[in-house]
Amino acid sequence: MFKLETYSRAVLFSCCFEHKGGIPMKIACLGGGPAGLYFTISMKLRDRAHDITVFERNRPDDTFGWGVVFSDETFDNIAANDPPSAETIRAYFAYWDDIAVYYRNQRVVSGGHGFSGIARKKLLLLLQDRARELGVNLVFQTEIASAATLAKDYDLVVAADGLNSRTRNEFAEYFKPAIDLRKNKFVWLGTQQKFNDAFTFIFEQTEHGWIWAHAYQFDAHTATFIVECAEPTWQKFGFAAMSQDESCRTCEHIFADYLGGHRLISNASHIRGSAWLNFPRVLCEKWSHQNIVLMGDAAATAHFSIGSGTKLAMESAVSMADYLHSEPDMQAAFAKYEDARRTEVLRLQSAARNSMEWFEDVERYLHLDPVQFNYSLLTRSQRISHENLRLRDRNWLEGAEAWFQRLAGAGDNAVRRPMFAPFRLRDMHLKNRVVVSPMAQYKAVDGCPTDWHLVHYAERAKGGAGLVCIEMTCVSPEGRITPGCTGLYTPEQEAAWKRIVDFVHAETDAKICCQLGHSGAKGSTQLGWEEMDAPLKSGNWPVMSASATAWSVRNQTARAMTRADMDRVRKQFVAAAKMAARAGFDMLEIHCAHGYLLSSFITPLTNRRTDEYGGSLENRMRYPLEIFHALRAVWPAEKPISMRISANDWVGAEGIEPQDAVAIARLLREAGVDICDVSAGQTSIKAHPVYGRMFQTPFSDRIRNETGMATMAVGNIYEPDHVNSILMAGRADLVCLARPHLADPYWTLHAAVRLGDRGETWPKPYLPGRDQLYRLSGGGEQIIAAVWP
Ligand SMILES: Cc1cc2nc3c(=O)[nH]c(=O)nc-3n(C[C@H](O)[C@H](O)[C@H](O)COP(=O)(O)OP(=O)(O)OC[C@H]3O[C@@H](n4cnc5c(N)ncnc54)[C@H](O)[C@@H]3O)c2cc1C
Ligand SMILES: Cc1cc2nc3c(=O)[nH]c(=O)nc-3n(C[C@H](O)[C@H](O)[C@H](O)COP(=O)(O)O)c2cc1C
Repeated sequence: MFKLETYSRAVLFSCCFEHKGGIPMKIACLGGGPAGLYFTISMKLRDRAHDITVFERNRPDDTFGWGVVFSDETFDNIAANDPPSAETIRAYFAYWDDIAVYYRNQRVVSGGHGFSGIARKKLLLLLQDRARELGVNLVFQTEIASAATLAKDYDLVVAADGLNSRTRNEFAEYFKPAIDLRKNKFVWLGTQQKFNDAFTFIFEQTEHGWIWAHAYQFDAHTATFIVECAEPTWQKFGFAAMSQDESCRTCEHIFADYLGGHRLISNASHIRGSAWLNFPRVLCEKWSHQNIVLMGDAAATAHFSIGSGTKLAMESAVSMADYLHSEPDMQAAFAKYEDARRTEVLRLQSAARNSMEWFEDVERYLHLDPVQFNYSLLTRSQRISHENLRLRDRNWLEGAEAWFQRLAGAGDNAVRRPMFAPFRLRDMHLKNRVVVSPMAQYKAVDGCPTDWHLVHYAERAKGGAGLVCIEMTCVSPEGRITPGCTGLYTPEQEAAWKRIVDFVHAETDAKICCQLGHSGAKGSTQLGWEEMDAPLKSGNWPVMSASATAWSVRNQTARAMTRADMDRVRKQFVAAAKMAARAGFDMLEIHCAHGYLLSSFITPLTNRRTDEYGGSLENRMRYPLEIFHALRAVWPAEKPISMRISANDWVGAEGIEPQDAVAIARLLREAGVDICDVSAGQTSIKAHPVYGRMFQTPFSDRIRNETGMATMAVGNIYEPDHVNSILMAGRADLVCLARPHLADPYWTLHAAVRLGDRGETWPKPYLPGRDQLYRLSGGGEQIIAAVWP
């Protein structure tokens, strides 16, 4: 614990600390890795009068690990801080532009990725030289047992003591670290085999499972060779019991085809045993305590597969040095440092997590064609967009797009974005992959669609989407969500829908899907723009659900459905489906998501039944599947049926989680459902969704690639780039956009113009408008080739 004198030195210093030209500080830096060394350099650059000592337990030229990589852009940020050290570091950079992927006997190469590598040892030696030159006192072979002791004698202690930071543990109650030991096993090896033409990934299938290597050259003779695999594979190989040498020999054998007879070498003699590790994902609630601050891996780690740990550590070092010179006192500097760096670190950690999880789940993608596998690998962190890949390597991306179009049956010469690839489900042919997601309009009169609906759906169908899905259309008056919801339970409603469907078919080449549903416990509520999900002010009707539950304390408690209720509702679904068939809809979607009646059976949050419709997932799926089978029996055989599900209740293990959604999809697939529309949430008021760009797409990805079922992705997808990357990576077959289509009914046609695609059909009366837009757009690509934040 902190002694009084420790605290008093910090407090004293904090009080009289002044920025720029203020009192020089006496600083101890615990750890001479990239974070510690670069921090001391950055401090000296700002004020030579600081008295700085680095304590490092190793010798100056000890090296554990091999090379580190920087991307072109990231090194520029660092270079601006200290051009002389950047210049010397750059002189030792090995550069490469390509990423090569060995997978299923193919080597796929894409270019434009712009990386540089340097030996970790060289980097540290250069940073040591620069630190010395600036007057930093470097003390090697000195292990610091306690940062608290140092803190007594120094104004500031920077704990840059790495991944397994002792300081972080010493002050755990203040830093509140969360360390997540990830499931894959990896070992950091080196080799003299040349990998100097590309950053190379090698995926090998062995008798014990898949194992892969991340390899890159970092100097004239040496390459890093990180071997990674899932824990069961590692166990089966018996790596746990092997010495480091035996591990190397086994890996040499596995990767013999790529090593050209060269050996794999370990330099992790400091690690006891086999040197295989599980990556620890480190997060800390706080980075500073009194006069001690965490930096680099000690504060936060980023998985090695995005090669950003060193950059992150060095950028944090610059930031800390900046704030110590711009802020009035040390605590203010710490606060600014945490504030500024935390966002950046979290952003990078989020990309690193995506990348790390991709490798953890890689077996999910190992059925993919090499083209798609490669695309999936390149976009795994979800930072690199489709159009950014085009900037990096147009030829490679166009080859991949041509592959996608060919697979979609568009013909050999089609060079178009994936979103413009056709898609077929049973006999329904869609001209492209964009879907207008179902959206309640709350404008029906007694369940009957009005001219509003005609104009609304006609506009979206004219706007270029391949498929327009109508709002949840209810199978009975009491099955409506609100008094403004549409229905399919009277001849007038059927006729009104037929008028809309006929218009879409006569005037556009879009297809139209009817979403059928029953509101369950979320029924008898106000219009969407009134108080959503709140009971009606007057005229409420009784509601029923899987069990006697209420949506919220304000809503009425639903009646638990009896078998007779279930029969009646099934018949209502069947009658509605027959009407939809007569109205000419091309596809049916059964709404089993968002907490409505069928969803209330699926999620354990609302299904408390003790009969054969409650309990296990199979039981909870029984009634939704009963509805599906009844509809399939009356719905034309050539037309597809989709089911929309909530793939995550966002309440943790109590509710549906993504792995349960995979099990649900398996049951749907076995039953013969043609496509799963993968939504999420809205099943509980206790939900804590994690929003973000394309935030529900991982659920679709998982279902599609683990079950082989066709999927639609939905949720905060709003850029053509999002759509293309989802499709090209095989994360969904169709992409639904809801709110973007409220803002712009012509979203698809406008996207085509921005992308320079001239293949979409415009309504004939609008051709002069189209031509003007083409001219204004200059005929080129207007899309932003984003590296997403
Ligand atoms: C397999 C693998 C591959 C990686 N590849 C890359 C890559 O390609 N690019 C990249 O940017 N990053 C990479 N990283 C991450 C990178 O190594 C770290 O993010 C980076 O080194 C962090 O710097 P640091 O200064 O915070 O910690 P470290 O580099 O770990 O330095 C901490 C230092 O503190 C010293 N120390 C610790 N405790 C004490 C003590 N009690 N007393 C005295 N000294 C002590 C240690 O000896 C060490 O020298 C990789 C990491 C791994 C595991
Ligand atoms: C106004 C509005 C009404 C909606 N009505 C329905 C509906 O009737 N049926 C349904 O399954 N989803 C409905 N949704 C959900 C959307 O289909 C979609 O899943 C959600 O808005 C996320 O997509 P987005 O981010 O593109 O908007 C509705 C969404 C909005 C904004």
